Amino acid sequence: MREVSVDVHREAAIGATDRRLFGAFVEHLGRCVYGGLYEPGHPSADARGFRQDVLALVRELGPTILRYPGGNFVSGYNWEDGVGPVTDRPRRLELAWRSTETNEFGTNEFIGWCRQAGIEPMLAVNLGTRSPDAARRLVEYCNHPGATALSELRRAHGWEQPHGVKFWCLGNEMDGPWQMGSKTAQEYGRIATEAAKMMKWVDPSIELAACGSSGRNMPTFGTWEDVVLEHAFDHVEYISLHTYINNYAGDTAAFLASVDLMDRFIDEVVAIADAVAARRRSAKRIMLSFDEWNVWYRTRRTPEVRVQPGWPVAPPLLEEIYNVADALVLGGMCISLLNHADRVKAACLAQLVNVIAPIMTQTAGPAWRQAIFWPFAHLSHFGRGRVLRARIDSPTYSATYFDPRGAQDLYFPLPQAPYLKLAAVHDSDCGALTLFALNRSLTEEMPLRVTVDGFSDLAVDQALQLHDTDLEAVNSSQQPDRVRPSALSGVRAEGGRLSANLMPASWNVIRARVA
Ligand code: AHR
Repeated sequence: MREVSVDVHREAAIGATDRRLFGAFVEHLGRCVYGGLYEPGHPSADARGFRQDVLALVRELGPTILRYPGGNFVSGYNWEDGVGPVTDRPRRLELAWRSTETNEFGTNEFIGWCRQAGIEPMLAVNLGTRSPDAARRLVEYCNHPGATALSELRRAHGWEQPHGVKFWCLGNEMDGPWQMGSKTAQEYGRIATEAAKMMKWVDPSIELAACGSSGRNMPTFGTWEDVVLEHAFDHVEYISLHTYINNYAGDTAAFLASVDLMDRFIDEVVAIADAVAARRRSAKRIMLSFDEWNVWYRTRRTPEVRVQPGWPVAPPLLEEIYNVADALVLGGMCISLLNHADRVKAACLAQLVNVIAPIMTQTAGPAWRQAIFWPFAHLSHFGRGRVLRARIDSPTYSATYFDPRGAQDLYFPLPQAPYLKLAAVHDSDCGALTLFALNRSLTEEMPLRVTVDGFSDLAVDQALQLHDTDLEAVNSSQQPDRVRPSALSGVRAEGGRLSANLMPASWNVIRARVA
């Protein structure tokens, strides 16, 4: 391939990454909670049943905020079932994933787990089967200091201090017919507004995300955001986006190119939110919460891996095994998020453990990292700072993305995809410039030259690559380190320029010290 060139300038920034951009998601689904975070009796579990081997991997992964308890699950959840003495908690039929929910783990256990992990909690309220009243009562239970029935109930449950949860989601995927209590945009816009008002009257310091479309391929996408924000604009800070990228077609080049639809989706939602603002002559800017994103397809449409017969407790569901190609796509998604740091202020990789997750466990056995663990960990550890606007001169290719909706086969022509997808982040606190670079060519090495302006000094500190001649290689309990990053050699810094040679189909992280 011909040389690919990139120019960045210290003063030309897109925006600063928010701490909450590096979040993940925990749902009562399959073995995410039970057998994932929580497994009393496991050799590594502490007195509260929290698996310490999982916690160690979570710390290494580095999520900063965790969305809980769903997902589709939240739309049928009674939060009251999951608090108080465990022996009094009801077992319930859980309709989203056709399981039995024991409620052994609930809001307080989740907060306790987050505190131990040093992660901010993000709670979703049920606006499917329940009303705004249940939502404002949960805010009072969690965040009010005391001297009211609900806050005293929390204290009686052993939580003297308020949880202080700041970030709340107003339901989940309310546009989806699969959702319990799904709604039209008008219905949801009204109920979200009423819930938002009351939740903020209880605690004015909270921030709220309204549900956007559950995917860009939804028939109501666009209209949904517009109508919902017409109702809720004055009461929310965020609108949500969800994206799961697939490779159903087995076309890896298109799979890698399809990441660019995430950029387009973000731009479209920003445009709609700003159009609502313009109609009101408002200077307020609604920010984006990309609170579900990942690669997901192998376990998505197969009925037996979505639900199992007999209402089991914590059955293995959606246990997607991720390969190198998936990890590359996930790296591309990380770059899309970084390059929209001005408007995407929160994001949650869906999910954290076992269920479409970077971390896998065996019940009563070990825990290990999946291939997608790596790009996310790089994002979280090295993505803090100001994202610089990169001018990229790269050859491009064309592809078509197959993104089915229900029984319908949808094909989306993709924009011409540059072989190089890249984000550059300057962290002035630690004097580092990090380049995240994806070479999407499946066959050709990429000679890369990056001109870095506005810095007086430049020295290569660390360079990593995720590259494997077998794009289908995976990690497993037997081979937990089959897929892992290696050193990227030959990266040079000279006179304000960085040069490197990127392997075909590779995810690369180059960190330079700058002054
Ligand atoms: O993350 C799995 C599911 O995907 C979530 O429950 C739902 O919100 C989405 O459709």
